[in-house]
Amino acid sequence: MTHRYWPLFDLRLSTADLELRPMTEDDLAALCDLLPDDVEQDPAATTYDVADPRTRRGTVLHQTYWKHYGTWSVDAWRLQFVVRRAGEAIGMQELEGNDFRTLRTVDTSSFLVTEARGLGFGKQMRAAVLALAFGPLGAQAAVSSAWHDNHASLGVSRSLGYRPNGVSLLARDGAADILSHLRMTRDEWLATGLADGVLIGGFDPCRPLFGLPST
Ligand SMILES: CC(C)(COP(=O)(O)OP(=O)(O)OC[C@H]1O[C@@H](n2cnc3c(N)ncnc32)[C@H](O)[C@@H]1OP(=O)(O)O)[C@@H](O)C(=O)NCCC(=O)NCCS
Repeated sequence: MTHRYWPLFDLRLSTADLELRPMTEDDLAALCDLLPDDVEQDPAATTYDVADPRTRRGTVLHQTYWKHYGTWSVDAWRLQFVVRRAGEAIGMQELEGNDFRTLRTVDTSSFLVTEARGLGFGKQMRAAVLALAFGPLGAQAAVSSAWHDNHASLGVSRSLGYRPNGVSLLARDGAADILSHLRMTRDEWLATGLADGVLIGGFDPCRPLFGLPST
């Protein structure tokens, strides 16, 4: 363990093609450079009067990074992983737990640079964090939500075995639109056998940060 005070920085998830590591401050600027224009950011995020939209979005990503680690608690955590292929950053995968010790449910969100899409990597990186959630974290369910026309995000969920879990009508660009919800249970995940394709390293020292007893 090299990060005794914040052991999340030693956590590693590996799939056939990808390595996922929790984001560090050193990754931030490079990830902001990569952030694709079609990635939705929190509409409630603080923004500043900056003309260049890329800079404005990058500033939001910086404050989001600090917020997630700065407000981390065992009952409300959001872990952003940098996704690398052959050592090169190609995207980000987030795993989120709210009231996790009670609800045992995780949510996810992600992006890939456009050149890395449609190659199965979205599915691999989601499977990586699901292996962590349903494995050492002991989740009972995973949920995901996407606009009805986000076929890639919905495709990742359906392809991994999530089932439809209702819709919400929400404001989007000034009009009402449909957000689709999906859900997968622990048994459904275990039936996929996909956990076998994911290696998890460095988790044990992180257990207290998730409210789990030390081993
Ligand atoms: C969402 C995203 C991460 C998915 O990654 P990806 O690498 O493109 O997806 P994959 O190649 O792993 O595809 C997974 C499944 O979805 C399907 N799929 C992918 N893109 C699709 C599309 N545009 N239309 C229909 N199906 C699609 C694939 O066929 C595959 O299903 P299969 O295994 O049954 O063949 C990526 O497209 C992205 O970064 N999008 C922009 C950001 C975003 O919208 N993020 C989600 C919001 S939280």
